[in-house]
Amino acid sequence: MAPTSALFGASPDVARRILDDIEAQFRLSKDDLVRITTQFLEDFALGLSEYNHPMAMIPTFVTGVPNGSETGTFLALDLGGTNLRVCEVELLGNHEFVLRQQKYKVSEALKTGEATTLFDYLADSVDAFLTEFASAVPSSPTTEQPNPFASPSLTELSPEPAVPLGLTFSFPVEQTALNKGKILTWTKGFAAKNAVGHDVVQLLQDAFNRKHLHVRCVALVNDTVGALLSRAYTSGGCLLGNIFGTGTNGAYVERVENIKKLGDSPARQNGGYMIVNTEWGAFNNTRTVLPTTPFDNKVDRESINPRLQAYEKFISGMYLGEITRNILLSLIDAAPKPLLFNGRSSQQLNAHYGLDTAIMSEVEEAWETGRVPIVPVTVPDWQSAHFTDVDKLSPDDIARLERIRGIIIQRLGLDPADVSIRDAAIVRWASSLVANRAARLSGCAVAAVLVQTGRAKLGGGFATDEEKLIVGVDGSLIQHYPNFNARLRESLRELVGEEVEKKVDIGLAKDGSGVGAALCALQAIKQGH
Ligand code: GLC
Repeated sequence: MAPTSALFGASPDVARRILDDIEAQFRLSKDDLVRITTQFLEDFALGLSEYNHPMAMIPTFVTGVPNGSETGTFLALDLGGTNLRVCEVELLGNHEFVLRQQKYKVSEALKTGEATTLFDYLADSVDAFLTEFASAVPSSPTTEQPNPFASPSLTELSPEPAVPLGLTFSFPVEQTALNKGKILTWTKGFAAKNAVGHDVVQLLQDAFNRKHLHVRCVALVNDTVGALLSRAYTSGGCLLGNIFGTGTNGAYVERVENIKKLGDSPARQNGGYMIVNTEWGAFNNTRTVLPTTPFDNKVDRESINPRLQAYEKFISGMYLGEITRNILLSLIDAAPKPLLFNGRSSQQLNAHYGLDTAIMSEVEEAWETGRVPIVPVTVPDWQSAHFTDVDKLSPDDIARLERIRGIIIQRLGLDPADVSIRDAAIVRWASSLVANRAARLSGCAVAAVLVQTGRAKLGGGFATDEEKLIVGVDGSLIQHYPNFNARLRESLRELVGEEVEKKVDIGLAKDGSGVGAALCALQAIKQGH
């Protein structure tokens, strides 16, 4: 049985004031959301007109979206999420595909060592995959174009055609063609040396060549573009691809005439549409509109990339646990008396990034399980649920908090004697504050794209003719974090009105990185790369 005393050290009033004060810092009103979205639109415009802005608005040279009839077998390599993945993707041409994949770990040493070592490891992983899945042989895509594999450099390497590979590289890259792009900066804890400023396709191809692998990297794609393409492949269309996972970002279909920074280049003259990778993780690095708390500042200051990726640090899975950890530590250390865990921490909780976002997710899941299910667009009453008064809780609530208490003790390595039911309530409350803010901020980015592409107006009252506004999403948060999607939609509804929000069809971009890379490889081959 948990320690029952609602012992709090400080008087309940002092405690309530401290907790309410934290809660107020995490609240986002409709006005806040509108201000943030307005800034988003200004930054979109800036990034589309000039190079070198944090909101990079990268032209991807992907000029169309698939309709699901595409066929062919490709290799895909995916770097930038939690794991490195190598996949073989067979596009069947009926909106369906078959995918075989293998995940490989990327150690901290690889993330921060020499780039050649990292790219050699990528090549080794592809080699291991090809060896393990001996049947992973190339099949030519269905295309009427001349055989793209006849280039002299490839025939020099081998009389066999090289296996075409699409690279999903989920970092900011200034693309100049489907198969060319310089790394602008690393994000999400990567910092490999001698990579920034280099062509990522070349870095990978050099590694393949060093190892005499008959693989040719024909296309480069961001994971958001992959999400967009793969959702389009399975659903027949898509306007926006999002990642809400370790990092966050979005790519959408823009009119080429709006991408002013392309100037008079042939890509611009051709007109039509092009997918733009926004790199919205870097939105508002100056933090003029983002609701920064001391807990966020601490995350930023101690991160590998201070003052960069500001928006990502409010939203993505890599950071939410860390913000929550900072809140919990401040409560453990609260004056005049501790407000949490009898003022005692644990090794895990003291460690940088010691509270994984997955733990928050588990805690919120345990709270939601058995409650009335949340229907989309109805956000739970998360406010003021820090329960300074434990005695008023129902037996059901107590049972759920008992479960949460167990999770906390186990996952954070705390002494059971230090964890009360009300501590469990506080951890749940802190998790939901941080996650709710993340989801509401995410709604701003989605709303900004809907407004940018003429599908919505800020403040609502706009009805588009389109029946559905298809959005492809991928990432651990949107897939697994309880209510992330519902909270995001609630924010979206506040921003663009119910009529438009109801038309937004947010769906999982299944295996987006693999399928997207395959589709890009196909497009690259068709373009003769
Ligand atoms: C980071 C990367 C971006 C990627 C996102 C999601 O923001 O900079 O390229 O799309 O993470 O993985």
